[in-house]
Amino acid sequence: MEKTFKRTTVTSALPYANGPVHIGHLAGVYVPADIYVRYLRLKGEEVLFVGGSDEHGVPVTQRARKEGITPQDVVDRYHNIIKESFREFGISFDVYSRTTSDVHHRFASDFFRKLYDEGKLVEQSTKQFYDEKTEKFLTDRDVVGECPYCHKQAYGNQCEEGCGRALEPTELINPRSKETGETPVLRETKNWYLPLNEYQQWLKEWILESHKEWRPNVYGQCKSWLDMDLQPRAMTRDLDWGIPVPVEGADGKVLYVWFDAPIGYISNTKELCDNEPEKWGSWEKWWQNEDTRLLHFIGKDNIVFHCIIFPTMMKAHGGYVMPDNVPSNEFLNLEDDKISTSRNWAVWLHEYLVDFPGKQDVLRYVLTANAPETKDNNFTWRDFQARNNNELVAVYGNFVNRALVLTHKYFDGKVPACGELIDYDKATIAEFINVKAEVEKLLDTFKFREAQKEAMNLARIGNKYLADTEPWKLAKTDMGRVGTILNLSLQLAANLAIAFEPFLPFSSEKLRGMLGMESFEWEQLGCTDLLAAGHQLGKAELLFEKIDDSAIDAQMQRLEEIKKANEAASYRANPVKPTVSFEDWEKLDIRVGTVLECERVPKMKKLLKFKIADGIADRTIVSGIAEHYAPEELVGKQVLFIANFAPRQFKNGLVSEGMILSAENYDGSLAVTSLLREVKPGSEVK
Ligand code: 2FM
Ligand code: ZN
Repeated sequence: MEKTFKRTTVTSALPYANGPVHIGHLAGVYVPADIYVRYLRLKGEEVLFVGGSDEHGVPVTQRARKEGITPQDVVDRYHNIIKESFREFGISFDVYSRTTSDVHHRFASDFFRKLYDEGKLVEQSTKQFYDEKTEKFLTDRDVVGECPYCHKQAYGNQCEEGCGRALEPTELINPRSKETGETPVLRETKNWYLPLNEYQQWLKEWILESHKEWRPNVYGQCKSWLDMDLQPRAMTRDLDWGIPVPVEGADGKVLYVWFDAPIGYISNTKELCDNEPEKWGSWEKWWQNEDTRLLHFIGKDNIVFHCIIFPTMMKAHGGYVMPDNVPSNEFLNLEDDKISTSRNWAVWLHEYLVDFPGKQDVLRYVLTANAPETKDNNFTWRDFQARNNNELVAVYGNFVNRALVLTHKYFDGKVPACGELIDYDKATIAEFINVKAEVEKLLDTFKFREAQKEAMNLARIGNKYLADTEPWKLAKTDMGRVGTILNLSLQLAANLAIAFEPFLPFSSEKLRGMLGMESFEWEQLGCTDLLAAGHQLGKAELLFEKIDDSAIDAQMQRLEEIKKANEAASYRANPVKPTVSFEDWEKLDIRVGTVLECERVPKMKKLLKFKIADGIADRTIVSGIAEHYAPEELVGKQVLFIANFAPRQFKNGLVSEGMILSAENYDGSLAVTSLLREVKPGSEVK
């Protein structure tokens, strides 16, 4: 039997306070969470919406280092910018605090100490790279060096530029400290680990058996983790920015950011409850009461932390309820390209507000219409304009405006009485009273995109009704009928205000004012008696305005300039290498091969395995281009490859007998080289 809950705690991922927030954040996490919370509130349910800034972690220290300021300066600046952006976009947090707060430091520290005291953590010593110049241990990303597999520059945790493999820093050839360039030394260090392995069976039962209803992307990611053997995971780090580890002899160590950040949800709740106990009760009610339903809204890169690590922390601690669902989104791209902070490829919320003042709902609408719920999705400025002009203005705004303007014209802005209904009126009503059940069903299962579409149907029904009944033509002959038509239209407009409140709160508020409604609730959706005959309407104003080509062109122009700047930066960053002699050039044997077969390599998401006809025999070549080509695109094509490249063996035993040549674009995308004319396989490139 499905469990019933008395209240809901909704958390939304705490963004790192190392930069402003962009449309990807809004689309992936905050708009869907806000829609859901507003919906519950409108239904009169007890709900708490928790947000806050994640102020520890390496991303913050990296930013500070880059700008030559302290980590505290960084988080002070961005916490306020982020908080303000969310407020502007109507993200209706009940609390938005920060992980540098005293309450949080104490709470996270006590949480750790309880696990430590009860022997729930495992102590382990490992050898880690240490920079003797700065006298600091280096995080995996602070170490750079040559990838042992593809020989490109790589970070200690991953070869991002090349083959994409996960690495250990000790695997790197010629490792160096990213900060100082020094060769680090290995030093023994002690840390405390959460033994995830001890909880694997419980996790399997809890997620894989009991939560088959989770979104397939979330369930699938959990399953692939739980199908492997989970390993103990370090909950402390040798760093100086973070919450000190509250244990003797742990000087110079802090709590791992992914240990303290999710605890931020709880400590922020505590801060709120301590400040307003009459309104919110105790924090325990929201986190430890069996009647409370816990939901985490996150992006896909956070799944493992919210479904595996944080639940294990809470389980080990004891007393906490487990998340009932973790609605996680995939990513949003911008104009077909990955959103990237470092490449400035983003629409920043604080900049949008300057360029499109008062149009917060337009962005909310477009982001929900393109929500990356089941797969990565794309934001384009042309689509933004089209959805505003053809949907918000032409459908929703147009209907509401006609209903109000006609009522002002013929009835002095007073709701006319509803006369006898004809069959067409009844059919129209029958169409829209179902909307409540439909939208509810979709919202209850976190399908926000479809739910918004369904709400928009109300406006389509209204437009069709007015277009078909043409009240303006009846004004001279049958004012009674005109009254009925407008009465029904106004009831529909009131329904729109309710249905859209979770999605477009600013427009609903405006419409509520125009209709002269004091308040409304979700239960009223589908009713045709929301406005009494004789009720005085407010002034009719436009709900939405057209967006001109010039505004969109300006945005496209901006992106074009960013692209050019990125290209220039990329060429500057890759200067031409030192001259080589003819003899050196001749050492390379570059040939043409025809691709006979091409397939993905299991568990290596960047690799494609080729069978190439090289003129004499078939050879296997493995290449890190799986993110840039589908295997079938390349079969039958001729490619250039280095035929005398020393064979390389991958960890899974696969041997690559050569290297396919690709060009790297400024944005990191790869294009395989080919010929303008077909030649015999094996032909030499000279
Ligand atoms: O990925 C991120 O941006 C993290 N700062 C999210 C943290 S969510 C939670 F655990 F606080
Ligand atoms: Zn590599």
